[in-house]
Amino acid sequence: MTQLSFIHRFESGARRELAPLLLLHGTGGDENDLIPLGRAIAPDRALLSVRGKVLERGAPRFFRRLAEGVFDESDVVRRAHELADFVEAARKKYGIAEPIALGYSNGANISAAMLMLRPQALRGAILLRAMAPLAKPPQTDLAGKSILLLSGAHDPIVPPDNSEGLADTLSGSGARVERRVLPVGHQLSQLDATLSRQWLSEQIVSERPSGSEAAHA
Ligand code: MLT
Repeated sequence: MTQLSFIHRFESGARRELAPLLLLHGTGGDENDLIPLGRAIAPDRALLSVRGKVLERGAPRFFRRLAEGVFDESDVVRRAHELADFVEAARKKYGIAEPIALGYSNGANISAAMLMLRPQALRGAILLRAMAPLAKPPQTDLAGKSILLLSGAHDPIVPPDNSEGLADTLSGSGARVERRVLPVGHQLSQLDATLSRQWLSEQIVSERPSGSEAAHA
């Protein structure tokens, strides 16, 4: 099946009523990279972890770039749709709800592109060190989606006004966006894990199907 042609890992979760996490690695990573972070912040959720198909001198990515921070936008669009198609097919195969993306760097950028181009593919997103993936994003309705955007104050790759602009675009489309600038660089830190876990646990109330409160009280 072509839609399931992404190399990926799936791990089921103990609480099937919670949205799974869609794990999307940074440049040069693979489907194994974010599993430990995913498990640390979401011990009970299913994890669907995908390897990017684009190779940059052998390093897997989710879309082509022309230089660092300069994206091939037609490839961004094509790859965002390809990944959204995969997510739809994987949801059917594994019987899972629409996922919350957990993307780092290039994985955060493709998550942002999916939100803009195929909003129905994701329930929400945790974007770690994200940049705006499209110079002129299309009009999108992100009402009901929650997004956590964690930027690094000393990130040499993502200029602060770029991630701020991304947050504005997403909230201007109706998403509930929480943006925090951490005293770190491009690398992930313990604070990313702590804040992501906290934010995810705050989402749980809205994820429960109505009437299920008693079961978990
Ligand atoms: C990108 O290419 O998506 C960004 O520059 C981040 C990265 O280095 O992967």
